[in-house]
Amino acid sequence: MGIYIEYETDKKFDFSYEDVIRSVIDEALNYVSCPYKAEVNVTITDNETIHEINKEYRNVDSATDVLSFPGLEYVTAGDFKSIKSELENNYEDYFNLDTDELMLGDIVVSVEKVYEQATKYGHSPLRELAFLVAHSMMHLFGYDHMTELEAKEMEGKQEEVLQRLGISRDVDIKLINKATSEDIALMKEARKAMKNSYSPYSKFPVGAALITDSGKIFTGCNIENASYGATNCAERTAIFKAVSEGERKIRKIAIVAKKGDAYPCGICRQVMSEFMDKNDIVLVEVNKEIKRFRLEEILPFAFEL
Ligand code: THU
Repeated sequence: MGIYIEYETDKKFDFSYEDVIRSVIDEALNYVSCPYKAEVNVTITDNETIHEINKEYRNVDSATDVLSFPGLEYVTAGDFKSIKSELENNYEDYFNLDTDELMLGDIVVSVEKVYEQATKYGHSPLRELAFLVAHSMMHLFGYDHMTELEAKEMEGKQEEVLQRLGISRDVDIKLINKATSEDIALMKEARKAMKNSYSPYSKFPVGAALITDSGKIFTGCNIENASYGATNCAERTAIFKAVSEGERKIRKIAIVAKKGDAYPCGICRQVMSEFMDKNDIVLVEVNKEIKRFRLEEILPFAFEL
C-alpha cells in the first residue's frame, strides 16, 4: 500500500503518528473493500500552513483540522465496482504508472489542531488524529456531509473503522491493537530471517525484522556460540545491522520464534530503547498471533544516562 507521509512542520507529535495514520488508512481501505493497491498522500502541517491551503483551494479564510483532496469521482460513494470500467479504461489518469497504485487523493492535517481538539474533547491526540484521518479517508471514498443524513452515514462509517482498530471514543487506548498490513509484512520478513538462525545449542530459532525512520528494513537471526554467553539474539543482530549501516532511528521491530512465544529478552529491550522512542512499536508473535506493544509497555523505566 502506498501511504506517503510528508512532515512539513516543526510542531511535533509525541506518539507514533505514522503508525496511527497507516493503521487507519489500511483499515479504511479494507472497510470499503478497495480492490486495488492504493496511493494516499498525507501531509502533516501546522495551523498557519493549513490556513493558507484552505484559503487557496477552498476560499475559506481560517485554519482547519484536516483537508481532503479526493482523486476520484464515484458514482456511488465507497463503491469501486461502479467506477471499475472508468478507472480501468483510463488507467493512466487514475493509476500511478510507476507503482500501479490507484491515486486515491491527498490528506492534510494540522498537528496543532490535533492537540487543540484532543484537549477540547477530552481524549488523546492519538484518538483525534485517528478520527481525522478516518474522516478524511471517507472523503477520499466520495462520502460527504452536506445533509444531516449524509453526515450521519459518514460518521457511522468512520466510527466503524476506528472501532475495528480498537480506538473508541471513551476507551482511550494508547495503542492500536490490531495488526496492520505493514505489521504482517514485517513479521513475514522476521520469519524469513529465522531460517538463517544458527542455534545448534538451544535449538530455539528466532528471527527479527525492523523498519527504520527512513523506511529501510533490516532483518536478523540469533547466532549462538559454543561459549554460550557469546550468543547474539535475533533482535540485536537486526538492530546492529541497521546501526552499522548508518541508521539511528527504528520505528518498529517484529520478532518471531519457531518454538514458542518471542518476547524479547531484557538486554534486547534495553538495546531497543537506545534506538527507539517509548511509543514505538514492538511486534511479538504469540500463539501465531501478532501482539503489539509500545516499547514503554515492555520496558518501563528504561535505563538512560
Ligand atoms: N533469543 C533471541 O534471539 N532473542 C531473545 O530476545 C531471547 C533469546 C535467542 C538467544 C538464544 O540463541 C536462544 O534464543 C535461546 O536463548
